[in-house]
Amino acid sequence: MKAAVLHEVGQPFVVEDVDLDGPREGELRVRVQASGLCHSDLHLAQGDNPVVVPAILGHEAAGVVEAVGEGVEGIAVGDLVSTSFSSFCGHCAQCQTGHNHRCDTKPAGITRPRVSLRGEPVYALAGIGGFAEEVVVHRNSVVKLPEGIPAECAALMGCAVLTGAGAALNGAKVRPGSSVAVIGCGGVGLNVIQGARIAGAAQIIAVDTVPAKLDAARQFGATDVVLAGPDAVGEVRELSSGGVDYGFEVIGLPATLLQAYHMVRKGGTVALVGMPRNDAMMDLPIAKLMFNEIRMIGSFMGSSPFQVFLPQLARLYLDGKLLLDELISDRIGLDGINEGYARLVAGETRRNVVVF
Ligand code: APR
Ligand code: ZN
Ligand code: ZN
Repeated sequence: MKAAVLHEVGQPFVVEDVDLDGPREGELRVRVQASGLCHSDLHLAQGDNPVVVPAILGHEAAGVVEAVGEGVEGIAVGDLVSTSFSSFCGHCAQCQTGHNHRCDTKPAGITRPRVSLRGEPVYALAGIGGFAEEVVVHRNSVVKLPEGIPAECAALMGCAVLTGAGAALNGAKVRPGSSVAVIGCGGVGLNVIQGARIAGAAQIIAVDTVPAKLDAARQFGATDVVLAGPDAVGEVRELSSGGVDYGFEVIGLPATLLQAYHMVRKGGTVALVGMPRNDAMMDLPIAKLMFNEIRMIGSFMGSSPFQVFLPQLARLYLDGKLLLDELISDRIGLDGINEGYARLVAGETRRNVVVF
């Protein structure tokens, strides 16, 4: 089968033939139908965060189950599944307290490569490796979706939608009637915006450096937009009459996290959703944290168990309340992946999707 292989950090992906083994016990083989180009894969490919090479990246995939290994229950050949970064064991303390997106002991399968290239093992990101025609994944890395969800939408649900909408609905728990600022309106940020809209926020202020992203933000539910610049904080504070209830950072930069901190009002919540470099640090004027009773939280993979939250999101889509088709800018082939990422960096895309 064909896969986009990262041989060296900082180098382009190379599309080539690899071998796939399995599924073994507890695993299933999925024929990938669509795979989204998330910015996190690019962070890894560029060395912002560590990755083992050679690797097949891609963690936002969906496809049809082709084969199931022993002991797999609740999923059958022919089902449409979406993959998730947050594979879980089910028995650690995090899993047992309902936080399996924070699982301490991922299933062994995700560290055992099922892909090889000329006899050498190839690492599959998050035990998925979705930039490939097929994947072998652990049962706890996928969720079955209801009928009526297009595969390309199902793919985006696995990360961009889960992460963004979940940060608003489950992480920060946006309240009806509240005010929200979202810095960074890419694939993930647009979903923070629609999560806040679904939660009933009265004011949603979108902040981005790219004007076209602000148009998209309006479509997803932003009530106000601010072109990012030196006075983004002042503009947001003015639009919200003194500060917002929730400030989301959806890029992964200390400077914009600090902006979010200064955008919230007393008692406000700052949520870091973007993925920072592992060595990222920030200077924070902390007096305000205490006097203004500001809450600072991180939100990872939608702050909830994906196997429960994704089917809920699917119902919202089927009810017309969650936009998914509108997230897609380009449908590309696997060999268009390097160009697709170049367009992401240039700020030209909402979400590019590899369609198989
Ligand atoms: N101020 C405001 N907006 C900015 C700035 C800035 N200084 N720098 C970049 N942006 C905007 C970009 O224009 C883009 O619209 O942030 C957005 C980032 O979106 P994408 O590149 O599409 O990235 P996305 O996949 O949404 O991921 C966002 O979350 O999952 C993590 O690793 C991922 O850190 C990344 C973040
Ligand atoms: Zn666990
Ligand atoms: Zn992602």
